[in-house]
Amino acid sequence: MTDTPAAGLARTVAVINGKGGVFKSSIVSSVGGLLAEAGWRVLLIDADIQGNLAEDLGLAEVTDEGRHQLDVIPSGLPLHPVTSGRERLDVVCGGELLEDLDAVMSGRQSRDPQWMHGLAKSIDAVQDDYDLVLIDCPPGFPILQTMALVASRYVVIPTRSDSGSRKGMRAVARRFEAARAYNPDLELLGVVRTGITKSAKRIRDEVRREIQDDLGGSAPVFQSVIRYAEGAAKTVRDLGKLPHELEPDIDRLERARLQRLGERKRREKLATKGGKRKADPSEEAEITLTPSLGGVAQDYAELTQEFLDLLTSAEEGVESA
Ligand SMILES: Nc1ncnc2c1ncn2[C@@H]1O[C@H](COP(=O)(O)OP(=O)(O)O)[C@@H](O)[C@H]1O
Ligand SMILES: [Mg+2]
Repeated sequence: MTDTPAAGLARTVAVINGKGGVFKSSIVSSVGGLLAEAGWRVLLIDADIQGNLAEDLGLAEVTDEGRHQLDVIPSGLPLHPVTSGRERLDVVCGGELLEDLDAVMSGRQSRDPQWMHGLAKSIDAVQDDYDLVLIDCPPGFPILQTMALVASRYVVIPTRSDSGSRKGMRAVARRFEAARAYNPDLELLGVVRTGITKSAKRIRDEVRREIQDDLGGSAPVFQSVIRYAEGAAKTVRDLGKLPHELEPDIDRLERARLQRLGERKRREKLATKGGKRKADPSEEAEITLTPSLGGVAQDYAELTQEFLDLLTSAEEGVESA
């Protein structure tokens, strides 16, 4: 037991925005999954009440909804992660019981000046088992967010270009500054632009400028973006498989898609006998699915590479300082 509470753990990264729907969970699962495939030992911690990480990883049937976190974090006991079913990729699930954790830690605030180190302590005990820890942060719940930021060495902020996401980003920037009082080493690795059209360079540049305005002109912004691909994202969550894991199936899915398309055209011809038939939106979703999946997988591969490069230069900066 040391007097210095755990904070700013090496290679622990919080993925955070004060708004939901900016692809936080998708980024955590894909970047973590890709690095585990590349040989890293990776731990993913779902600190969100939504518990979406379990869905992305195909663990929706076995998640404990955050029960384990509720059991260990208030006493700073070691986390016992479970396997994601993939080599080198472990996970601590989140979910609705984190609401109870939030309440417990909130009650703690007045009598324990080190309450905000709870998660850091629980990770610290197992961090030697991993090369990287990624925390999927909740969009609200300041107590849970603060514990995640105090545990982390780096922060990644995904944002979409709408005003709500940018407001969420500014809220996180304030929380980031507050967390630095307990964790002075906390560093912004970069902002990731998500849900934008890959080809629209003008929009990408505009969003970059807006981010820099929002964060005071000096914000590092990832070159890589995650494109908007609703169908692909839905498949990932429905199947519990990550985009790069589905990639090998794309050819097969693509053939099935063309076959369906052919059959649909034939049915349409029979049904309308020359008149127009309205497309069923569910069929549309199905037929646009497979090409975008490959694109999304590629975006995550590029993001992961850039993440590694940034992490490496941040660590080299630390070593040479
Ligand atoms: N590339 C994408 N394009 C469109 N929708 C996506 C994409 N990635 C994820 N989604 C969907 O957007 C929603 C939010 O994604 P999620 O990763 O859960 O964000 P967050 O964790 O920030 O709330 C989910 O319904 C998810 O399926
Ligand atoms: Mg999420």
